[in-house]
Amino acid sequence: MHNANSAPLSARRGGPLKGVAQVPGDKSISQRALILGALAAGETRITGLLESGDVHSTAGALRGFGAELTAEGPGRWRVKGTGVGNWQSPKGELDFGNSGTGSRLVMGAMATTPITATFTGDASLRSRPMARVVAPLEAFGLTYEGQGPKALMPLTLHGARNAKSVSVHVATASAQVKSALLLAALNAHGVSRISQDALTRDHSEKMLAAFGAKISVSPRAQGGETITVEGPARLTGCMVEVPRDPSSAAFAIVAALIVPGSEVQLPAILLNPRRIGLIETLLEMGAKIDVTNKRSSGGEEIGDLVVRHSELKGVEVPALRAPSMIDEYPILSVAAAFARGKTAMRGLEELRVKESDRLEAVARGLKLNGVKYQIEGDDLIVEGGAVPGGGTVTTHMDHRIAMSFLTMGLASEKPVTVDDVTMIATSFPEYQDLMRRLGAVMKSL
Ligand code: S3P
Repeated sequence: MHNANSAPLSARRGGPLKGVAQVPGDKSISQRALILGALAAGETRITGLLESGDVHSTAGALRGFGAELTAEGPGRWRVKGTGVGNWQSPKGELDFGNSGTGSRLVMGAMATTPITATFTGDASLRSRPMARVVAPLEAFGLTYEGQGPKALMPLTLHGARNAKSVSVHVATASAQVKSALLLAALNAHGVSRISQDALTRDHSEKMLAAFGAKISVSPRAQGGETITVEGPARLTGCMVEVPRDPSSAAFAIVAALIVPGSEVQLPAILLNPRRIGLIETLLEMGAKIDVTNKRSSGGEEIGDLVVRHSELKGVEVPALRAPSMIDEYPILSVAAAFARGKTAMRGLEELRVKESDRLEAVARGLKLNGVKYQIEGDDLIVEGGAVPGGGTVTTHMDHRIAMSFLTMGLASEKPVTVDDVTMIATSFPEYQDLMRRLGAVMKSL
């Protein structure tokens, strides 16, 4: 998979990184704020929205269903929703670009309204399995036509008429699949029960409650939890404050840890307990990360971070932690490459179905830059030490692969180049400016 207008960039060692990193709004919460706003009756006002390719693709699609979305200034949006069950069939295909979250959540949101929509996206999104979302939605009466057994895009969905509530167990450790089912349950008659073994991110549950849905969450005796949603739901527009994205903060955090002499402050970062697996792991590795001023913002926990250069040591990262740091394994692999000893990351099967096969992409990038590793089944074991660098990494249209290996270049012996940085704009358009302001040396080729 290649981007036709690719822009390579290389990063190399320079002085210490210093200053304040104001990372943008959380991608998961931004997507949900627009989608719930478009489903709710009345007006939703959003501040701190992530202004990125993925979020804008979702906004475009939601207009197709009849919601009004207006950007009023950077991060400030107003959404006039239709009310649950009142979406219309969009004209033409919906192009979700690179966004797995946007497309999959919207599939759930339309699944119990009798309308038809065709979903498509870029080469990366068109290669990602949609069957994991649309197959469980069949329980509500959704029908679909996709490409092959994985139900690849272009994918046409026909929402159910008079949908009834369901009880579904989600075997996949995916917040996207869980969220799609929760959104579908909003317009199904009766109480739906959605259970999951893994404790994946719970932003949908929190935000649905804030919009007035009758939703409850209870732990299961055998582990995991069950979520109940009563339909048809009446959602009412509200105010949403989007906190700063810990998955974007991750790149500045690891950069500060591996570049000698660095000290970087990251104010007001989302610290939802289901999103902080990377911070927990880095602390176990010996990272100097101070978390202060913990507080609540928009129904989520946030706090201020100060990160200083640290001597890291290798650790075991248990498979149970994967849901709380699923997007952070590429950047953790970079931190592990600079640590003393081995870091074993267990249970990474979900990495194979991200914007790229991230397990494969990380392994290739490590190899090209002289870092030793082993892959055993779904585990990745990185041998840390000096990082030679000097490689040119293929990003496969994956923003997190690009930002992770640029981070590596900031501390490796020779510069690291990535073949394309255009995809970074899907989640973190200000990445290069922000890193340069901290002192990072990055050069276009
Ligand atoms: C997300 C869930 C995760 C994550 C993605 C955002 C979400 O995907 O990788 O970047 O907002 O629900 P999975 O649900 O497929 O694990």
